[in-house]
Amino acid sequence: MKTIFFLVLCNYYISVLFAAIHPDIGLNFIQRVKRHGYSVEVHQVTTEDNYILCIYRIPYGIHKSSRSSGNKSAVLFVHGMGGSPNNWILFGARDSFAYYVADRGFDVWVMATRGVEVPLPKMHKKYNWIDDPDYWDYSLHDIGIYDLPAVIDYITEYTKQEKIFFIGHSAACPEFFIMMSEKPQYNRKIKISALYSSSPILNKIDYPVVIATTSVIDIMKGVVKYLDMKEFFPQFRIINDMSKVMCLYKSYVKACRHVADSIGSHKSRLLEDELIPLIASESLGRLSSRQVFQFLDNVKYGEFRKFNYGPKINKKLYGYTIPPKYNLSNCRAAVAFFYGPKDSFCVKEDLYQSMSELPNVILDYEVPYSEFTHTDLLFGRNSTYLVYEPTIQLFKNYDKGKIPSKITRNYVPSP
Ligand SMILES: *[C@@H]1O[C@H](CO)[C@@H](O)[C@H](O)[C@H]1NC(C)=O
Ligand SMILES: *[C@@H]1O[C@H](CO)[C@@H](O)[C@H](O)[C@H]1NC(C)=O
Ligand SMILES: *[C@@H]1O[C@H](CO)[C@@H](O)[C@H](O)[C@H]1NC(C)=O
Repeated sequence: MKTIFFLVLCNYYISVLFAAIHPDIGLNFIQRVKRHGYSVEVHQVTTEDNYILCIYRIPYGIHKSSRSSGNKSAVLFVHGMGGSPNNWILFGARDSFAYYVADRGFDVWVMATRGVEVPLPKMHKKYNWIDDPDYWDYSLHDIGIYDLPAVIDYITEYTKQEKIFFIGHSAACPEFFIMMSEKPQYNRKIKISALYSSSPILNKIDYPVVIATTSVIDIMKGVVKYLDMKEFFPQFRIINDMSKVMCLYKSYVKACRHVADSIGSHKSRLLEDELIPLIASESLGRLSSRQVFQFLDNVKYGEFRKFNYGPKINKKLYGYTIPPKYNLSNCRAAVAFFYGPKDSFCVKEDLYQSMSELPNVILDYEVPYSEFTHTDLLFGRNSTYLVYEPTIQLFKNYDKGKIPSKITRNYVPSP
């Protein structure tokens, strides 16, 4: 009861006080898009395993000229683990990735993967996401084989287009390759998959918090099993809510910046102080335990493997005591990798090993700024010319029939 009271109070403070600091604080995706002057539609789709997902659509850009309806190439944006659709509109009109793409004449779709709060009356046919533990019984594998295919089917049918462009940050990258490995029929629905700040193989990951966590993963699994936590440490939500309030105050902005930097693992030189309360007000989304463990196990294996249920169940389910690898050579759709030189999640060796197993990589784009970190695409300034524009050039060329037949390295777009 006390906790509930505390949370209500926190949320009250957040909405009242924060709104004075940044007008987007406390607004959901739809309210923000409207405030930024764009149109937005809400669509919903039910997955094969009964999760109800929300997809937002920004059908055209801010200028009248981009409003000609019909026949625009559809682009799907997928956020990473702990992220949300708001990641793509953080900078407001024009400077945000989703708006930039809409302004350049594309039909923009932004999805929320399961576990992210969305304004739908129900998020599962049977379970209530707030308090049914069974809602949280899924891993990255389920997002890859259920969520992405359901959304891609919906968009292709709705727009009557055979193929779409895919944009994914961080964990959306492994989720994409899980889909392609397990359901290769989706290759023919993708024009280009542009993947940012991630590699499916995470062997050389240089991220101290994650490496430390993998060394105690068995203990953590024991605790989670003992407490029967299908949602990953729901207790963290209190810290989350406290940080929302703290980062409001100027004197704490520095501390909050340290937290933001530690998420990216390197100090971001592109993150501006004004954005910190807005980023903190979102905090980290809720996660399922199995989602986190599949990621950590794969860092530990140094390989891109299916979910690890433990030797006994693995043997029954897969026929081996360790889970099998996903087959990257099933991904025949064109793939473009974008990454920053200071990204400790996505290191070059891992990316190059992944590329050697992927049959159709068309772009290897290292962002031309030596300090670009894991989260700079989402939270840092200057992404417009560093990342968005090269992406648009790639997509426009594809639509004109100019598809690179071999890999382009450190490609610089023509203006
Ligand atoms: C729509 O796109 C299709 C295929 O991309 C093309 O054949 C057709 O001419 C386009 N129609 C219009 C009205 O632009
Ligand atoms: C992976 O997929 C490729 C083609 O898609 C196939 O030739 C190969 O045998 C598969 N490898 C494994 C280990 O299943
Ligand atoms: C970012 O943009 C600002 C303003 O346009 C510019 O002064 C700065 O040099 C840019 N930084 C990078 C790393 O490109």
